Amino acid sequence: MGPLELLIVAFWVMLPAYVPNNAAVLAGGGAPIDGGRTWKDRRILGDGKTWRGTLVGTLVGIGIAYLLNVLRPTAVEALGVSVPTFPLVAMITLPLGAMLGDMIASFVKRRLGRNRGAPLPGVDQLDFAVSALVLTAIVAFEWLVAVFTLPLLIVVFVLTPILHVVTNVLAYLFGFKHEPW
Ligand code: CTP
Ligand code: MG
Repeated sequence: MGPLELLIVAFWVMLPAYVPNNAAVLAGGGAPIDGGRTWKDRRILGDGKTWRGTLVGTLVGIGIAYLLNVLRPTAVEALGVSVPTFPLVAMITLPLGAMLGDMIASFVKRRLGRNRGAPLPGVDQLDFAVSALVLTAIVAFEWLVAVFTLPLLIVVFVLTPILHVVTNVLAYLFGFKHEPW
């Protein structure tokens, strides 16, 4: 695969893991998952992790994966790039894993004494991608290793932070987010 092809496949295969966090930003609000509970005087997760945001984010991600599967034949023909099909389990674990990774990062941030919204550079940009791939590896290992060749993995880990920074700055500028990260 050439560089452009790798970029297209990376974006395609990661889209079900990219969209949930953004959907959660738009849908977030309501009851926090930790119910306001604390551990050692700090919130377990904080008000930034809500049931509604997590549920909507995961469902939107599943919907995106489904849509990409439907569009695949058209995309392959139009782009001339062999983008992968998502198996049912990956349609669920990519978005769910992304939401879980974001939540684990919030847990870690609270333990480090950083309040809701505080940045944790590096972690904020990659937590969801790592977690989405790890969770998917558990349920669809053969699919994952067949799709994610080393070059693709490298492109994913370069592309993901760039997209994360760009979308979050845009979300901030348009008033959807309190902080630009
Ligand atoms: N959000 C949500 N549920 C999630 C993830 C995000 O409701 N599982 C919503 C919240 O409204 C949150 C916003 O999306 O404030 C931005 O997400 P994020 O940057 O992950 O949360 P922060 O508020 O920055 O909190 P944290 O410091 O814990 O990351
Ligand atoms: Mg944040």
